[in-house]
Amino acid sequence: MAVAKSGSIIIVGAGVFGLSTALELKKRGYNDITVLDRFVPPAADGSSVDISRIIRSDYADPIYSEMAREGLEGWRTEYKDQYYESGFALLSETANNAWIEKSKAVIKALGGHIDELADASELRKFYPNVQSNLSGLNGYHNPRGGWADAAGGIQKLASRCSVAGISFITGPRGTVASLRKQGSRVVGVNLVGGQCLLASQVIVSTGAWTNRLLDIDHAASSSGQPVGFIQLTREEARSLDSTPVMINMSTGVFCFPPTPGTNILKLARHGYGFANEVTLERDGKPESVSSPKFESSNAESGYLPDDAEESLRQGLRQYFPQFADRPWINRRLCWYTDTPKGDFIIDYHPTLSGLFVATGGAGHGYKFLPVLGKYIADCFENKAPEELRQKWRLLPQQGPKEKGMAGDGSRAGPPLRKLTPSEQAKL
Ligand SMILES: Cc1cc2nc3c(=O)[nH]c(=O)nc-3n(C[C@H](O)[C@H](O)[C@H](O)COP(=O)(O)OP(=O)(O)OC[C@H]3O[C@@H](n4cnc5c(N)ncnc54)[C@H](O)[C@@H]3O)c2cc1C
Ligand SMILES: *[C@@H]1O[C@H](CO)[C@@H](O)[C@H](O)[C@H]1NC(C)=O
Ligand SMILES: *[C@@H]1O[C@H](CO)[C@@H](O)[C@H](O)[C@H]1NC(C)=O
Repeated sequence: MAVAKSGSIIIVGAGVFGLSTALELKKRGYNDITVLDRFVPPAADGSSVDISRIIRSDYADPIYSEMAREGLEGWRTEYKDQYYESGFALLSETANNAWIEKSKAVIKALGGHIDELADASELRKFYPNVQSNLSGLNGYHNPRGGWADAAGGIQKLASRCSVAGISFITGPRGTVASLRKQGSRVVGVNLVGGQCLLASQVIVSTGAWTNRLLDIDHAASSSGQPVGFIQLTREEARSLDSTPVMINMSTGVFCFPPTPGTNILKLARHGYGFANEVTLERDGKPESVSSPKFESSNAESGYLPDDAEESLRQGLRQYFPQFADRPWINRRLCWYTDTPKGDFIIDYHPTLSGLFVATGGAGHGYKFLPVLGKYIADCFENKAPEELRQKWRLLPQQGPKEKGMAGDGSRAGPPLRKLTPSEQAKL
């Protein structure tokens, strides 16, 4: 059943999924849209923020690769002030890393150009300032790709939403405690302060917090991924001029060139992450799921578990041996919304009417910022190709709960680890 353009729509969550949806629906004539969030976007502890996200079209799955190429056009035009085409290098200790091989084939099939590196030292032909010991490593380089100022992209998108006539409610009055239901119909949201907001349609795009509002344990789970930042001087940053984004496919640790202006260097790990166990009530029964803190910001404490910190430190030694001992100026766990195969979840809820879900970024959603809303709105309007509808379906809960949320095969490093209660207390 199509949603009326005059009907009121509440979008919960102002990350890349929620905001891109809001803007696109507004363009398509839906004229009563309100976006709610715990914080003013860019929310400091959301997944769509901080100084950088990788922008790449390198994927083992041609569907995302093609979407990312389309997204790149948007980054190069509409979002050119937030985009840095530094190039992207994928490195592996082993020859024939399965994901790298698939990705190479996909890029070539789509007519892209890559530089294969039989020995990764060849990377220095393109980037003489790379200091890492690359000898004996394999991989490839894609000159079309780089990184985006993540918070800056969200700020721009939020501002475009606001100018387009979308309403925003943030803070406690925009923080949703639960969905408001009448039988199996969602009719609005209950706010943490006890008030409620009614709407003809609710769209949940709450990222890693989604399992707090909805029982989607079979389809998504949240994992914390370590991120660390170090401060360079202007001269030090200059010594890394024209270096690419690099990912080590053996450890999952990746790095960015220093950020112009602030000279901050960032490393993170694309791995299986850490589980933060919380107990929620599902149908009156307690159930434990992994989800970030909800009541306060996850970006405040600057805490990383010791093993997470050590993996980033090891990455720093390998990528930037000259800065191996530089202290972190900031660290945090950033929250992925993992799904079994790394596919997004973009669908009407299978059993609750009046509810649409757009989440499951699975550690790779940000790069689609310029085009994601179009794909989500197509699903919302039942216009998306069948292949995408199936790929992004929210299946009903049935049978035993899926426990593996390993993503699309691009991750590396140690398996998912549950944080201990004392580690959780420090988050
Ligand atoms: C460390 C890290 C590195 C990443 N690297 C990359 C990368 O290099 N390239 C790439 O393309 N992608 C990357 N990703 C993935 C990408 O950032 C995510 O897929 C994407 O940002 C998810 O967006 P979202 O809108 O689902 O979530 P979010 O941006 O987290 O938005 C969800 C929002 O919902 C709000 N919210 C939640 N619950 C409620 C509630 N009950 N009431 C009100 N508001 C609520 C939150 O405050 C938050 O602002 C990375 C992610 C992380 C964490
Ligand atoms: C670089 O790595 C190779 C392969 O691991 C090793 O043999 C070599 O000694 C290293 N070079 C330096 C300068 O550390
Ligand atoms: C990637 O990690 C492996 C394993 O720790 C290491 O041998 C290799 O040197 C790393 N590569 C880079 C470029 O840091």
